[in-house]
Amino acid sequence: MTTSSSERGVSLGMPELPAPAYPDDVRARLEADAREIVARYPDSRSALLPLLHLVQSEEGHVTRTGMRFCADVLGLTTAEVTAVATFYTMYRRRPSGDYQVGVCTNTLCAVMGGDAIYEALQDHLGVGNGETTDDGKVTLEHIECNAACDYAPVVMVNWEFFDNQTVQSAKRLVDDLRGGRTVSPTRGAPLCTFKETARILAGFPDEREGAVDASGGAGPASLVGLRLAKGETAPARVVHPRDGGPHDAPQDGAVHDPSPTRHLSSHDAPQDTSASDPAHPAGPTAEEGE
Ligand code: FES
Repeated sequence: MTTSSSERGVSLGMPELPAPAYPDDVRARLEADAREIVARYPDSRSALLPLLHLVQSEEGHVTRTGMRFCADVLGLTTAEVTAVATFYTMYRRRPSGDYQVGVCTNTLCAVMGGDAIYEALQDHLGVGNGETTDDGKVTLEHIECNAACDYAPVVMVNWEFFDNQTVQSAKRLVDDLRGGRTVSPTRGAPLCTFKETARILAGFPDEREGAVDASGGAGPASLVGLRLAKGETAPARVVHPRDGGPHDAPQDGAVHDPSPTRHLSSHDAPQDTSASDPAHPAGPTAEEGE
């Protein structure tokens, strides 16, 4: 991530502008939360990252007020806090949308359609990278690899996975987010707003229904290499399970998730990626592996 000179102003020795104060009730609530966070660490300054998530959960981005608060709690200078807050892209420095829609445009996702999805969403939403729709719902970003390459192209919404996307499914996803309709990630916990996500990242319990037993673990496609490394029979082409369609049926030798419903997304793309294209198979077929 690059930072502007104005963002780095404090650490460059420029005069520090006074940060507006939190209202008393907000500060008291944040202080109680901060004490809980700081108590987890033997050295209080180790709590800076979760504290930045905490203040981000309050206003949706890390403000000067939030950084001043972190500095006060931890006995740091605002320059030290600013240096950290401006280094990590997970901390926003300006007001943004309820849903951060990140399109992976790293190599594998890019060639599998990520670049096309990103360009289509820019046109569809009328915003560029890091910009937010007029209704304040969606902030579009292109993001780096999220270690979900086996489900490329991947779209992340507030860091929840939407696997195997297409231009069509991604447009429907953002339309539903803006329309207030429920969307379900492909795996992991249910979707929540960016502020709610920030509070969870601060380390507070995720109390959403279904979040506790949600599995964000490896799916069938992720385990193929492990099976091969173990010398097991080469699996048949693994196809992401979807909505009871024809590809949901187990294939000989394939690795099967015992709970395939955990890998369904309300915005899974139709089977028009290489996984379903006989001319461009995503992996060895059963016949090839035998
Ligand atoms: S390249 Fe997109 S998740 Fe790895």
